[in-house]
Parts: sequence; structure tokens; C-alpha cells
Amino acid sequence: MAKMDDIFQKRMERHHDELRWLYMELYHNDDMFAELCGQLYRYYKIRRVKLRNRDERREKDSGWFKKQDMLGMMLYIDNFAEDLKDMRGKIGYLKECGASFIHLMPFLETPEGRSDGGYAVQDFRKVRPDLGTMEELGVLADECHKRGMDLCMDFVMNHTSSEHEWAIKAREGDGEYMSRYFFFHDSDIPCTYEAAMPQVFPTTAPGNFTYFPEMDHFVMTTFYSYQWDLNYKNPRVFNEMMYHFLYLANQGIDIFRLDAVPYIWKELGTACRNLPQVHTIVRMMRMIAEIVCPGVLLLGEVVMEPEKVVPYFGTVDKPECHMLYNVTTMATTWNSVATRDIRLLKQQLDIVNALPKEYTFLNYLRCHDDIGWGLDYGSLAYMGMKEIPHKRYLNDYFTGNVPGSVSRGELYNDDPVTRDARFCGTTASMCGIESAGFENDKQKLWHAVRFDIMLHAYMLMQAGIPMLYSGDEIGQVNDYSYKEDAMKRLDSRYIHRGKFHWELAARRADGSSVEGKLFQGLKQLEELRKTEPVFGEAACICTRDAGDISILCMIRETDEDRMLGVFNFHDGKRTAWLNEPGSYMDMLSGEQVDLTALELEGHSFVWAKCLK
Ligand code: GLC
Repeated sequence: MAKMDDIFQKRMERHHDELRWLYMELYHNDDMFAELCGQLYRYYKIRRVKLRNRDERREKDSGWFKKQDMLGMMLYIDNFAEDLKDMRGKIGYLKECGASFIHLMPFLETPEGRSDGGYAVQDFRKVRPDLGTMEELGVLADECHKRGMDLCMDFVMNHTSSEHEWAIKAREGDGEYMSRYFFFHDSDIPCTYEAAMPQVFPTTAPGNFTYFPEMDHFVMTTFYSYQWDLNYKNPRVFNEMMYHFLYLANQGIDIFRLDAVPYIWKELGTACRNLPQVHTIVRMMRMIAEIVCPGVLLLGEVVMEPEKVVPYFGTVDKPECHMLYNVTTMATTWNSVATRDIRLLKQQLDIVNALPKEYTFLNYLRCHDDIGWGLDYGSLAYMGMKEIPHKRYLNDYFTGNVPGSVSRGELYNDDPVTRDARFCGTTASMCGIESAGFENDKQKLWHAVRFDIMLHAYMLMQAGIPMLYSGDEIGQVNDYSYKEDAMKRLDSRYIHRGKFHWELAARRADGSSVEGKLFQGLKQLEELRKTEPVFGEAACICTRDAGDISILCMIRETDEDRMLGVFNFHDGKRTAWLNEPGSYMDMLSGEQVDLTALELEGHSFVWAKCLK
């Protein structure tokens, strides 16, 4: 082998022993490890100079992604633009939205109608032909980089589509490829697995195995029947998936969302989630990235109960993911909306704020998936709320079936056995913009807009990085047209995956329109977040009591600066009993504000900065 380049050599030296140790622990296979190392060098060598320079800059500034100007926006290429090429012309709009990175929802080749929104990948090295080519992805990445933005994509590593070439070969009976999945010739072992494995899609795709009569075999399919779980016990699977990852990194992707990562290792008799080997794999992936492309970040999609989420950061010495979704906080936020009670939310924020500063969460109000009610039911029990009836209340509330609820949306995977339905709908619809528009009630409409801005203000103040869902910045409501599409009809998540309405976005400069009010309202908040030193990542963040269970009060503080965010989760007027000494200025209006007893209109908020 040619003499290794110094930089690569140095990085390899730093990680080799640990990487080898972990690899051997899982695979006991020297040849495969040697192959992996050889390929790491190859992917390093073919990485474009521009990307390698980017890596080196980021290696010297390892906290680059924690800066206060980081703000993400997630979108579907074909909802937002025509295709990848057309995306280039729309970067200006995204910049105007304040986005510093864009998460492009799955865009790799996937069989139409059997795609799970693109999460059933047929070819990891091919872009969906109607969206463009790999080359165009690279051009888009370059353009984003030039304009100071990063690009994020999904790495769907738990499964492939049943139309992936490995799955096709496996279906033909090729043992080498069958061993890359989980095949069983009778139902004995699948039944034993099922006994301990919960279901992800209990109504849309029940069970974790699918019987294929043409093969007379059962295949493990945790998600849809056309998403075949990969068997990471096979080192060939691990190696090949890492090569795909590096190939995509070399196209210029900066952030990889590790889709469904808790599920990647399976053991009979366990829930097949969050097993220790999952952490070994993520840790190896982190080292692989640090060796080949250290400018690249791993964002874990760990939609699990809180104690299962944090371990995906790894330890300070042996980190795993750079960022994780703040999923419990998101669900708890909507719980506060429905109950007008912030006690559980305050407690949840206190837990997050007590974690080491190295841990970076991605905050969001809505994403492309449903909201699962993964709340702290132990604490809720103390407040007199029981899990099953409480979940039912939340779902009734958000579907608009509780008196006084202005929310609109639909249930998802309403499981008749566990009664564990989840919820789908856009932020705007959940805040009442849809129902007020339908009733043509102006007063309700402005209230809903105020509410929507308030929730964003609260989200932007949290520790971590904010992520907006495309369309939320102009208050896009639910889109029911998915019901007319036979391929989408059964999956209510499409209610909040509608086309982006450019004709509505065109009103964003008009402050008298819903779109303008929201767009400008969010923009003002984002500007403050980017420029005020109190939003720096070093700030200490905590909550404090405001003397009213509907009012959340958050504080951000540095040695020099201090601000309070006071958020009214009640639809009626409330008073925050703060007794804050000193003089404060409303950061939005610039006017002085008295923080002794602060009156807040229903669903309104104040960002107040302490004057020196
Ligand atoms: C993730 C995605 C979701 C998808 C699932 C299976 O949870 O967010 O949309 O259905 O993975 O790939």
C-alpha cells in the first residue's frame, strides 16, 4: 500500500486501537478489519480538497456546530422545489428564513408507493431520478457551502428496501445475501422474538416479521414489510454500510441523521432496541468519521424514553453522536399546550439543563413524523394524571374533540390494544390557525398566530440548536390531499407533509397577513438569537417559578448578560409573579418592562433583557 498521508496517519493512530478493539469485540475478523482500514484510506484519498480543507478547519474548531447562528430547516425537495437543480435557486429563500443548515428529507432511490417517505432505500448511491443525480447533489452542497450553509441528509442504516440489490439476491436464495438480513424458515424463532419486541407501526404494519410465500421464509421487518432489517452481526453489512456513509460524505454532506439508530442490533429475547452493540457501532462510526471526514456530524434519531436518549452522546472521552433530537421536550411542550400546565415541562427542561454542556440537542416543535406521547408518566401520576386516559385526552385535544380546543389534526397508528395512538398535524393547525381560518374568525386567527410565535420564541430560547419545519415559518396548515393518493392514504403523517405554498410565502413581507406576521415575527426572534451574546452556547440556562402553573419562565445568563423568557401557555390573560429586581427591556419592542408582576395576554410571551 502507498505510504499514508500524514494527516490520515495521525488520525488513524489516534483511533486505531480503540476501533480495532471494538471491531474485534463484535466481529472477531482481522481480514474484514484490514479491508475496512484500507477503504477508509481510499475514501480519504478521493475526498475533494475543498472538503478536506473544511475538515481541517473544523478539527481546529470542534465546537463549530454549537454556535448561536446555527439554525436548521427540514424540507422535502419535491414539496419545496422541482428537484435538486431547482433547489439551488431557492437557497436565497432559506437564507432569508435564517437557516444555516438544511435537512433534505430522504432523496435516494426508493420504490414508488413502497417508500415510507423515502425511508426504504433501494440504492444508497443513486438519487431518485425525478429529483436529480449524485452530481447535482454535490453541486448543491458546494453552493450551500459557498453561502455559509451546511447540508444534512438521512442515513437509513437499520434497513434497506426489499428492492435493494442485496434483498433481490437474498430473495433468489443466495445465502451470502440472505445472511445480510434476518431470514427464518419457520415461525418458531420469529415468535420468540415477537414475545419481547414492541411494535413500531401496530396498525399500519403490524408485527416485526413478514412471511414471503414465494420464498417460504419469514424476514424481519420492524417497520413496513418492504423495509428489511439489516443484520449488523454480519461484518460485511457493517463494512458496506460504512462505505456508503463515506461515499455520501464525499458528496459534501455535513450532517448525517442516523435514522432509527436504536434498532440496528437485534438479540433474541430482548426488545431489540438500544442494545449495547448499537453503541459500539455508533462509536465506531464516529471514529470512522473522525478519521476520514472529521467535518461531518452525526445526528442521532433516538425517539425513545429520556434515559435511553442521553447515552447516545457517549461519554466526553468516547463520544458517539454529536447531536440528538430533544424529543421528550418536544412532546412535553405539546402536553403543556393541551393541559395549560407547565409543571412537567419545567421539570423536563431542568433535566436537560443539568446535563453536561458538551451534549447538544436539536430542538423542534414539529417534524415529518407523528408525535408520540413519550412523557414522564411517573411525574404525571403525582399530578393526578394516568397514562392511558391522559394519552386519550391529548389525542382528543389535538384532534379538536375537547371543548375549547382549537387544534386540528389526525391520529396515527391508533392501536386498539394498547390505545397508544400518536398524533399528526402542523404547528399552525395545532395552534388554531386552521380552525380560525375555517371559521373565518379574525380574532381567533390573530390569537393563533400569536400562540404559534410564542411557541417558537420558547423553542429558540432552549439550550441547543433550533430546527424549523419548512412551511411553519408561514403558518402552513394541514394538507388533507394525501387521502386522495392511494399510496399515501393509509399514512396520516402525510397530513403535515404537504407541498410548500409559494403563493402564500409571497405574502411574507406583508405584516397584515398571517404569513407576514409569522414570518417577520420568527425572523425578529432568530435575528436576536444570532446576535445577542446571551444566546451564546456558554450561557447558563434554567427555569424559575412564576407563581402560575400556566406560565413558564426561562433564564439565560452569562457573566455579562441576563435575559428572561416568560411564556403564557394559557389562552386567557395571566400574571407572572416574578419579583425580579433591576430594570428590564422588552427585546422585541425595545420598551422598558416591569418584571415584578407581569401581565400576559393569552398565549403571549416576553423576552426581557436585564439592563446594566
Ligand atoms: C424514522 C423516520 C420515519 C420512518 C422510520 C423508518 O423514524 O423518521 O419517518 O418511518 O424511521 O425508517
